[in-house]
Amino acid sequence: MKFITVKSYDELSKKAANIIAAQVILKPCSVLGLATGSTPLGTYKKLAEYNKAGDVDFADVTSVNLDEYQGLKGDNDQSYRYFMDNNLFKNINIDINKTFVPDGCAVDLAKEGQRYDELIKNLGGIDLQLLGIGLDGHIGFNEPDEVFTKETHEVELDPSTIEANARFFASKDEVPKKAITMGMMSIMQAKKILLIANGKNKKDIVEKSFFGPITPQIPASILQLHPDVTVVFSEE
Ligand code: PGA
Repeated sequence: MKFITVKSYDELSKKAANIIAAQVILKPCSVLGLATGSTPLGTYKKLAEYNKAGDVDFADVTSVNLDEYQGLKGDNDQSYRYFMDNNLFKNINIDINKTFVPDGCAVDLAKEGQRYDELIKNLGGIDLQLLGIGLDGHIGFNEPDEVFTKETHEVELDPSTIEANARFFASKDEVPKKAITMGMMSIMQAKKILLIANGKNKKDIVEKSFFGPITPQIPASILQLHPDVTVVFSEE
């Protein structure tokens, strides 16, 4: 594991964007696993700058996102599809038809999970997976549990996740209670993992995840078993 500690959010964003840019420069047809949340916003902004400057070309890139809220359509401004379109995809030259987010409105989420895993498999797996980390140690929406779940699956969001994400909604009651998330199989089979964490309040969970026991109660701890993980952490 490579653990990079930086001094500011701006530095974190630059480091993460540089790692993603390097991946795309070295392999233009990369499959990027992407994440939502407030942490990747600066990274996505930098990638858009690099793309605009002509330094990175996303024309041949495919992306697969980690998760989506249940019941939110892509044009709902709280959906993760909307987040990705507006914070990254519209600002770079990626082909929107090659950007994938699980369908939180699918009638049968179990079937949608199977479809999503099949899609990732058919793409040849993920070259670089970007991850944030929740205060409870979740990656994607894999919440603390008795087991690590392999497949893309429906989840009930942890009360702490609902609390943390309420800041993006008009009220806590509007935060969906369920979601669909990539499971540990696609994440762990990614060739490289890049986890970004920002802020003093993440320090404790980052320590537990990477320096404590491996347990599904701290989902990110499974990453200790991955052969190529880079963590970029800023205490700002
Ligand atoms: P954040 O979310 O980037 O908004 O802190 C991270 C996560 O919940 O995975």
